[in-house]
Amino acid sequence: MREIVTLTMNPALDITTATGRVIATDKVRCAAPRRDPGGGGINVARILHVLGAPATAVFPSGGHSGRALEDLLATEGVRSRSITIRGSTRESFTIDEEQTGLQYRFVLPGPSLTPREVESCLDALVQSAKDAAFVVASGSLPPGVPVTFYQTLADALADSSARLVVDTSGPPLRALERGVYLLKPSIRELREHVGRDLRTLDEQVSAARELITAGICAVVVLSLGPDGAVHVTAAEEEHCPSLAVPVVSAVGAGDSMVAGIIVGLERQWDLREAVRYGVAAGVAMLRTPGTAPCRRSDVDQCYAALVRRATVGQHSDAVY
Ligand SMILES: Nc1ncnc2c1ncn2[C@@H]1O[C@H](COP(=O)(O)OP(=O)(O)OP(=O)(O)O)[C@@H](O)[C@H]1O
Ligand SMILES: [Mg+2]
Repeated sequence: MREIVTLTMNPALDITTATGRVIATDKVRCAAPRRDPGGGGINVARILHVLGAPATAVFPSGGHSGRALEDLLATEGVRSRSITIRGSTRESFTIDEEQTGLQYRFVLPGPSLTPREVESCLDALVQSAKDAAFVVASGSLPPGVPVTFYQTLADALADSSARLVVDTSGPPLRALERGVYLLKPSIRELREHVGRDLRTLDEQVSAARELITAGICAVVVLSLGPDGAVHVTAAEEEHCPSLAVPVVSAVGAGDSMVAGIIVGLERQWDLREAVRYGVAAGVAMLRTPGTAPCRRSDVDQCYAALVRRATVGQHSDAVY
């Protein structure tokens, strides 16, 4: 398999812990924290690695938190190329409240990048992507990075053989104009993007196709949470249902789906099959807490269940 490069402009060191009850002004004593490397592209690289695909995560990194993030990735065996920045990599803090089952997620904005640091990230990415099959740009942009950054990236990759996959929302999504191979909005993100409810599958498909007609991308994979995903091109659309499975945590399901689709495409599967593998990877991610990567055996089991259902019309969702 050829190299896949991911870019995460706003990485995070994810700290997850648990406590009985969160009470204001009291000292809230927490369980031992779990630390995970986080941020869209980094999550995609971790899953690609689990699925046996050669991935390199490119990201700006600064301070103790940046070094901790790099160490965690190295421990998992994920290749990384970090660009040193002056600011400190942000930390995200999640608390599971045991008495209520509620989860509190505190997400910080991330350090401000200087124009020079932004430029260095772009250069490092373009250099890393020289022989890559895919570049995955995923996640939000930190302060200091222009909302047009992903468009600048697409233009910088225009002459390369790498196909660009973008998973983002809000202003950076709105700023895209051309040069993207595949976009992976969730239904929530597409609704927000077009400012319509998108109640029916037909409405969802037309909204997705508007992005293709506008020349922004060739493929939209619209993820629908428990309802799976629909892929849309200029010529076709197809819905791939998901499986009904118990959910430990839905965090990272979209990142896992992106990794699965790319692995499918790298196996030379057609889009329908690759998206099915992506849906399987999204489902498998529901089994692990937080952003802990899914297991490859779970992805393969879910994929087999989806194929069985599509070919013999079996309706049992029992996979585990
Ligand atoms: N509750 C669920 N039941 C079954 N499958 C799910 C569920 N949640 C997610 N998935 C699977 O994971 C994929 C991605 O999930 P989702 O559509 O929520 O994207 P997301 O990027 O994680 O969402 P967002 O970015 O809006 O938080 C889905 O297409 C589906 O295959
Ligand atoms: Mg998402």
